[in-house]
Amino acid sequence: MHTGSGSPTSNGAPTFLMCPPDYYDIEYEINPWMSRRRQTHPERSRQQWQALYELLLSVGAHIELMDPVPGLPDLVFTANAGLVYQDKVFLSRFRYAVRQRETPHDEKWFREHGFEVVHLPEGMYFEGAGDALFCGETLFAGYIIRSDIRAAQWIGQQINKRVIPLELVDPYYYHLDTCFCPLRPGMAMYYPEAFDEYGRKALQTHIQTLIRVRPSEAARFACNAVVVNEHVVLNTGCPELENTLRDHGFQPHSTPLDEFIKAGGSAKCLTLQLR
Ligand code: ARG
Repeated sequence: MHTGSGSPTSNGAPTFLMCPPDYYDIEYEINPWMSRRRQTHPERSRQQWQALYELLLSVGAHIELMDPVPGLPDLVFTANAGLVYQDKVFLSRFRYAVRQRETPHDEKWFREHGFEVVHLPEGMYFEGAGDALFCGETLFAGYIIRSDIRAAQWIGQQINKRVIPLELVDPYYYHLDTCFCPLRPGMAMYYPEAFDEYGRKALQTHIQTLIRVRPSEAARFACNAVVVNEHVVLNTGCPELENTLRDHGFQPHSTPLDEFIKAGGSAKCLTLQLR
């Protein structure tokens, strides 16, 4: 089940980090999707997570696992542990104290698996791959709601990559990966209303083919998809996007993830690309 850490995979398929939902729950409210009055169903969460895990394996992804920790309900959202670049991980600095407690566990995992752990300068918030996504060689960075613009710029300097900052204007789309998803170099899908005029222009300028996601499907976390070569894994209830993806030569695979939408996350948030 585990792939050898540090070793490149043989078939060019990506490796993801996931964390089982043993302690997943709604214990606090840090985004508009979360309500302590709308609790999760542990059994359904478990089944949905397991189905996602198996679906990703079936399309050729490799998966490594992190141990769940009691009292850290959002640890399942491994996308926020940090941003991995080659053998380095830029560790997150969470905005909210409730999630800052995840960081020592993330750091331990990365160290034990051979990553060079890089800490951002003090005082810069950064929520990892939730707010920093590569499309080709360019790093697209969401900011203001969770991450600071300076954090992505700092990372861009360390790895010598161009950074395109995108201000997030809708509190429901508080991480960039809730409203933007790179599909391949030069191609991505996005929910335009989550960005300001400047952000939309920046995306249109730097990405040749941009697929627009309609509001009702964006609210089903259509953009929070995991891309494994030509396969796109996403929540159910996004038929229009699925058709558009097929038209572009992709193979969409939907699997129910509504238990995780209660916390403001879906397929992509539950994974962190390692290699
Ligand atoms: N409840 C979590 C939070 O608000 C959800 C994180 C979702 N992760 C993501 N990459 N969008 O922080």
